[in-house]
Amino acid sequence: VPSHRLLWLASIQSAAYLVAQCLLYLLSLGTGSTPTIYLLGVAQGAVAAAISWFRRDEPWWYAIHLVVPIAAVILLTANVPPTIYLLFFLVLLGFNWHVVRNRVPYFPSGHATWRAVASTLPEGRSFSFVDIGSGLGGLNFYLSKQRVLGRFVGVEISPIPYAWSVFRNFVRRAACDFRLQDYNALDLSKFDFVFAYLSPAVMADVWVKARSEMRPGSKLISFEFDIPGVEPDEVVVAGRGGRPLYIWTLPPQQAS
Ligand SMILES: C[S@@+](CC[C@H](N)C(=O)[O-])C[C@H]1O[C@@H](n2cnc3c(N)ncnc32)[C@H](O)[C@@H]1O
Repeated sequence: VPSHRLLWLASIQSAAYLVAQCLLYLLSLGTGSTPTIYLLGVAQGAVAAAISWFRRDEPWWYAIHLVVPIAAVILLTANVPPTIYLLFFLVLLGFNWHVVRNRVPYFPSGHATWRAVASTLPEGRSFSFVDIGSGLGGLNFYLSKQRVLGRFVGVEISPIPYAWSVFRNFVRRAACDFRLQDYNALDLSKFDFVFAYLSPAVMADVWVKARSEMRPGSKLISFEFDIPGVEPDEVVVAGRGGRPLYIWTLPPQQAS
């Protein structure tokens, strides 16, 4: 989350806190009863979500603004031991420690996307595929069952998702190859298909890397995020009314 977003989060919540306190004060004058801290959490969340809606933020911010004060009140009153917070923090760090630097958090693509990706891969011949930022490895496990002649590699920068995909690979006796690595250090020329589900913030750089390394005829597939100013050769919709898979076939001339 960019720092100005966090600043907005804090400012909106502070304003919502003041408004909620005023509303509850008026309510207590009217009813003669003292509002609970839980009611304050709900009122603050509702006011903050309304401010966010008024600002025309992206819809997920409404949920964040609504949930944050309610969760804070519940956790503060539940006397959760500090070690639980520390553990939770370490797990989040294990998933997202790189996010401040490369601005790509973990969120899974899901089955509809996996099916759409499978539909773009060849049947009856071998090929190589890499998921740059493979998360928990679900896409590669699915594809390796659908296309048994394919070679599936996943590179992941965060240690916990990487460790989990290696564990799943072992338990499932799958033959996927997972690496704890920054995809920027990966040679993309080794692959016929490069799949990315990253973030709008990095797509221009991914294209520069793809253009300089990927072989002519190989394909770059990006779920949800297109490349500014570069028309895809194909767009496949993942699931009914779903989000798009953008596909670029690398041209013979690599000069950009
Ligand atoms: C949006 S998730 C997609 C996960 C998975 N590919 C899927 O489709 O479900 C992006 C993943 O890329 C990883 N990632 C971000 N930057 C990376 C980098 N420079 N090198 C390798 N992995 C990276 C994140 O840790 C995260 O797990």
